[in-house]
Amino acid sequence: AMITLRQLLDHAAEQGYAVPAFNINNMEQGLAVMQAAEATRSPVILQASRGARAYANDLVLAGLIEGLARAYPDIPICMHLDHGNGMETCATAIQNGFTSVMMDGSLKADGKTPADYAYNADITRRVTEMAHACGVSVEGELGVLGSLETGMGDQEDGHGATEKLGHDQLLTDPAEAEQFVKDTGVDALAIAMGTSHGAYKFTRKPDGAILAMHVIEEIHKRLPNTHLVMHGSSSVPEDLQEIINSHGGEIRPTWGVPVEEIQRGIRSGVRKVNIDTDNRLAMTAAIRKTLTEDPSEFDPRKYLKPAMQMMAQVCKDRFEAFGTAGQA
Ligand code: G3H
Ligand code: 13P
Ligand code: ZN
Repeated sequence: AMITLRQLLDHAAEQGYAVPAFNINNMEQGLAVMQAAEATRSPVILQASRGARAYANDLVLAGLIEGLARAYPDIPICMHLDHGNGMETCATAIQNGFTSVMMDGSLKADGKTPADYAYNADITRRVTEMAHACGVSVEGELGVLGSLETGMGDQEDGHGATEKLGHDQLLTDPAEAEQFVKDTGVDALAIAMGTSHGAYKFTRKPDGAILAMHVIEEIHKRLPNTHLVMHGSSSVPEDLQEIINSHGGEIRPTWGVPVEEIQRGIRSGVRKVNIDTDNRLAMTAAIRKTLTEDPSEFDPRKYLKPAMQMMAQVCKDRFEAFGTAGQA
């Protein structure tokens, strides 16, 4: 059954777990998440970016979500818009059956330029009024996602800040977070604490200096009733990098966010954990391996099925690690 982000995360907060939010762009990714959810009895957040909506066709995507909900009637599903950039994108997502939207006003509508507080608070408040009137939840974002190691905003996928920013500009300010929730009425708040989107987050295993977990703790103290969201939370598993690279791929040496750091965040109010890259790596690893081992294969099902299975394994691992398993 379809439920809102608010319903899902209120339960997660009561029980002290978090829900991974997996990006989907196609049927195989949708089925992989649902198979993992059913196997572990987990509630799910399926999220689609603007890019996913354009790739899959909005109407086809809406039909896919409806199909997944009907195929898995016992699994609570929240369908969420990832990184909405304005009123229009959020409104059309709601028209297509999404039960939750992210209004990312930390960046201007171009998805690149960091926005000031007034812009962010104003657009997020207006989206929240509209969405709440439709019974839909809202996630806002305060702070700029980007690596503290490099001082750079997101670059990999083109929807982050590209200029070099200092530590303080990248991190969410706890006092401002408190004001932002008061000003906007959001249900969940994405915070910046040193992660970035994509596979290339860190050049070594991140420690306390480059992953600002203390920011989460400080924000949770001020906002004990706001559900916190970690973006850029792929762990970039070494074994997946290895499968890709040993089958003709080229992933440069890189580190993601260790699962134990996410578990620390969950103890401090993190309730939604965004993961896309790990699933991309899993599908690519399986496809490269299958096609390398049997170069004569050309039936897409023969490599998409192992791709689904490898992605489902990543999802199961996260459901178990975040305490989502057994909650559906
Ligand atoms: O926020 C980033 C997600 O990984 C979605 O990426 O915009 O390439 O679909 P995308
Ligand atoms: P990753 O690139 O770390 O998977 O992050 C995904 C994300 O934050 C989607 O909004
Ligand atoms: Zn994100």
